[in-house]
Amino acid sequence: MTKPVVYVTREVFPEALELLRRAGEVRVWEGEGPPPYETLARETEEATGLFCLLTDRVDAGLLACATKLRVAAVMAVGHNNIDVAAATAQGVYVGNTPGVLTETTADLAMALLLARARRIPEAQAFARAGRWRTWSPMELLGTDVHGATLGIVGMGRIGEAVARRARGFGMRVVYHSRTRKAAGEQELGVEWAGSLGAVLEGSDFVSLHVPLTGETRGMIGEGELRRMRRTAALVNTSRGEVVDQAALRRALREGWIAGAALDVTDPEPMTPDDPLLGMANVVVLPHVGSATRATRLRMAMMTAQNIVDVLEGRAPAHCVNAQVVPKARG
Ligand code: NAP
Ligand code: GLV
Repeated sequence: MTKPVVYVTREVFPEALELLRRAGEVRVWEGEGPPPYETLARETEEATGLFCLLTDRVDAGLLACATKLRVAAVMAVGHNNIDVAAATAQGVYVGNTPGVLTETTADLAMALLLARARRIPEAQAFARAGRWRTWSPMELLGTDVHGATLGIVGMGRIGEAVARRARGFGMRVVYHSRTRKAAGEQELGVEWAGSLGAVLEGSDFVSLHVPLTGETRGMIGEGELRRMRRTAALVNTSRGEVVDQAALRRALREGWIAGAALDVTDPEPMTPDDPLLGMANVVVLPHVGSATRATRLRMAMMTAQNIVDVLEGRAPAHCVNAQVVPKARG
């Protein structure tokens, strides 16, 4: 019996490929970086399962031609690269990897906050450049994290994990989210700020943890940046498009806010001539929030399992469109 084809858009952990091979014929894109869109579309036409990354655009046009496809699983919790409405209409399950990367990503958000507050990249560059000649009372002065207020936007899994860390650092934590998490506020030690504006105005650090959706795209624009404290810093580990990056550049250049620390940008990768890369008060990382070996392995295995679930006749364990009416098995 011929096995269903599973297309994998990048070299991933062999353990995940091994799991997929038990249920399907695995074809892996072996080129440098993501497959070009045309290649992705052509390969997906043949596939019953698609193992993709957040760099692969799985849009309505591609899905319309993918008549055999029954599951598209992204190795990420954010699934904004996939047109979920179109997938649902086509009877295609969309899988993702919630939970397994929460703590790792929260660690990185906290690292970014600390890096910006204590000017760690600047201090390292200073030492490496041979400029460390003596202990200096006025050099490389940062801002205190303990006693400062952190504003969290999007109190979901990662938002909560960041709140816990921030409390451990002696910070006050306020938040804005789509839904108030009143029951958990006391345990987490966080305060409901109500509006986004109240978080922006009342925080020394603002950390973004919303998914990228129609509502959150451009959520932090000129108006929002102008509402932040001039001494405040913006931390973004969500998606670059949540922030209007042109407005952020102006905010930093003109001193509406004091700094930013970004793991995600718009576009990705950030172009090498982007002025943000040259600003001393900005930390930029290449989207490494979940990048530890253990976490990436868990993500790859969960993605593979989401596909195997469908190939074996079940709904994926981690699925964002459980309401889908699945295609009949070919
Ligand atoms: P989550 O548990 O779904 O949390 C998202 C939170 O945002 C939820 O509390 C949600 O509210 C809230 N929200 C949604 N729309 C909102 C809006 N319009 N206004 C205010 N709040 C809104 O997701 P997660 O696992 O924490 O992940 C969050 C995002 O982080 C992902 O979608 C992904 O884009 C990003 N991420 C990035 C990295 C990285 O490497 N940098 C790694 C992992 C994740 P409700 O409670 O009402 O649903
Ligand atoms: C990474 O950005 C993810 O959404 O998992």
